[in-house]
Parts: sequence; structure tokens; C-alpha cells
Amino acid sequence: MKRRQFLSIIGGGTVLAATAATGMIASRSTHTALLPWANAGKTYTDPRKRALSWAILAPNPHNRQPWLVDLSVPDKATLYIDTERMLPETDPFNRQITIGLGCFIELARLAAAQDGIGMTAELFPEGSDETALDTRPVAVLRFKSGAEADPLFAFVPDRRSLKEPYDVTKNVAQSTLDAVLAAAVQTKVDGNVSQHSIAELRALTHEALRIEVETPRTYLESVDLFRVGAKEVDANPDGIDFTGPLFELLGASGMMNRDALLDTSSTSYKEGLKAVFANTDTAMGHLWLVTQANTREDQISAGRDWLRINLAATSQGLGIQPLSQALQEYPEMKDIYDQVHARMAPPGGTVQMLARIGYASAVAPSPRWPLEAKLI
Ligand SMILES: Cc1cc2nc3c(=O)[nH]c(=O)nc-3n(C[C@H](O)[C@H](O)[C@H](O)COP(=O)(O)O)c2cc1C
Repeated sequence: MKRRQFLSIIGGGTVLAATAATGMIASRSTHTALLPWANAGKTYTDPRKRALSWAILAPNPHNRQPWLVDLSVPDKATLYIDTERMLPETDPFNRQITIGLGCFIELARLAAAQDGIGMTAELFPEGSDETALDTRPVAVLRFKSGAEADPLFAFVPDRRSLKEPYDVTKNVAQSTLDAVLAAAVQTKVDGNVSQHSIAELRALTHEALRIEVETPRTYLESVDLFRVGAKEVDANPDGIDFTGPLFELLGASGMMNRDALLDTSSTSYKEGLKAVFANTDTAMGHLWLVTQANTREDQISAGRDWLRINLAATSQGLGIQPLSQALQEYPEMKDIYDQVHARMAPPGGTVQMLARIGYASAVAPSPRWPLEAKLI
């Protein structure tokens, strides 16, 4: 539910009179929420902090940024999960949250390698629980000199999860899809840009999204993470952010507050639904990532490959957006979950990521907490 599509609400022209005050509200922009993108790799001499200042830009579910790092031992960084930053309704076993940590680890490794430093990750050194993450370390990262840079790193500043409708007049070439899939090194990846598959997966991802939004507790989990307007985003640079003139006005007018969004007869709710469907319904291809088992280590591998795939898509000028609803493990989604697995992992295995691909104009980066907020 993002950005441009909400224009149609204002397009009706009846909501707010254009006064000097509305002009001032509309022109608000964030002051601090995007600074981590500008500062990455710049402000530190400690190579661990340099690498981690990039790692915090990793993609992660609902932008919860659940990472915490202990740097108290030289040449080592111990990664923990912030158990306050889970998604219990849509990610009951913390599978997706773990994938986000895999993205973080891979990005730290790429950034360290860029400085000629090798980074290894010892995963779950004190063990892990398959049903829930806990306060035990997720990984011990060790840094020592000697590593080759990876060309994918160049695309980190421009990497996005592109949550806009895609241009339905621009097909994705099979060769482009193949180039993106080639970036994965640890998991099984596949994709499809045929008309037949696009139509089927548009319908399936649309239905999965409908289920998530129409299941009150899973929808509420998202709404509680909405940050509407620059002030809210600066105060909490995470979650699902809405900035720009339109959202400043919608936030200020109360049209996009929690009550309005939970009221299924409200304009905000209906327009929001239209906006998310405009995304699933303009997919110009899909790709997915499968692991044979579904251990915590597999989920980290999935995250590492997801980061690489996302960067490879950026290198190809291709937009990519995960559409995770169909992969979520709660009863209302079970039928769709089974359909996806029968189709994408017929011999067994877990579909860890499913995404749409296509072309759209570039968008701004999403907010981040600074590294300092994540050090313990
Ligand atoms: C495991 C995982 C699942 C995700 N699922 C979705 C999703 O279902 N829909 C979506 O729009 N974005 C999804 N994302 C993307 C995140 O929302 C995005 O990474 C986050 O908001 C930060 O934005 P950025 O990737 O542009 O930096 C997912 C990311 C990860 C790592």
C-alpha cells in the first residue's frame, strides 16, 4: 500500500483546501531517517563498524530491523535478534525474520570484502529452536584481512524492494531473469516470465494478499507498523513508511490514522487495498527461492541469496518485490501455501522467498535506524 496510488483520494479534490498551511504540511520531509544510506561506510575506522554500517541497509520483513550487535570482543561481532521486533502473526516461527538476518550477514560480508577484509559467520553457536528465535546468538562474525571484492556490492546504494505497480508494456527477457537467478549461490532458485505463469501467479499472490488483509489479526500487525508522514518516520525509522506530499496531507487530515485504516468501509482502507492489488496484478514475471530443509541455517542461506538476487536485479535495472503472503504459516493461508509448494517445490522443500519482477521508476530508499541504535 504505497505512495502514488493514494493520489486518487486527493484527486477527488474534496478533502483539503489548498491553503498556505496545507502547502507547508505537504512539503515536510524526513531529516534523519535516510541518513544511514548517506553515511554507510563513511564515518567509522573500525572495519567491523564500516561493514555493519552497510549491513543495516539489508532488506528485511516489514523493515523491522531486528538486528542487535555486540562488538565488545576485538575482530568479532556477535549478532543477536531483538525479540521485541518479531512479526508473530504473519511470521509465527520467525522464518522470515531469520531470512532478514541472512540478508544482513551477506551484506556485512560483501562490505567487509570491499575493504579487503574476509568475514566468516559461525551460525547459532549455542544452538537454535525451530519454532522460535530466542536470546541466544544468531551468528558470530569474525573479521580478518584478505578477501576479494564482489561486483554486486556496487549496487547496494540503489537496491530497493520496489513496491510500485510495474510497467505492463515492458516484458522481462528470459536472459535478464537468468542473469538475476545466477547470483544465488546456496539455494535453489527458479523463475518464470511466461504469460501463462504470470497470469497464474498474479492471481495466486492477489488472493494471498486478500487473505492477509481480510484476516483481522494479520492486517492489524501491518497497520500497527504504519509510519505516516516525515515526523513519524523520523521518530521510528522502520516499519511500513509513507512519506511525500500526499501522505503528509492524509496523515495531518486524520484520513490515514489507525481507526480509518481499520474501518473497512473507509476510503483509506479501500484505496489501500486497490494499491496493493495494483502491485500483485502488474507482476511481469516471478522468481522464487527454495531450500530442501527448513532449518535456521537454511533460512540464513535463503537470506544471503535473497540479498544477492535483489542486488543482481538492481544491476539489471529490474524492479523486484517480495510477495511473502502466500508463504506464511498460519491456518487461513494454508490452502495457498500448499498450492505454492506443490508448484514450486514439488519434490519437497520450503519456498523461502517468492517475488514479482518488472520495471518501474526508481523510488527513494526506505528508512533505517542508525548503527549506534543497534549496538549493545
Ligand atoms: C523475508 C522477507 C520478506 C519480505 N516480504 C515482503 C512482502 O511480502 N511484501 C513487500 O512489499 N516487501 C517484502 N519484503 C521487503 C521488505 O519490506 C523491505 O526489505 C523493507 O521494507 C526495507 O525496504 P528495502 O528493501 O527497500 O530497503 C520482504 C523482505 C524480506 C527479507
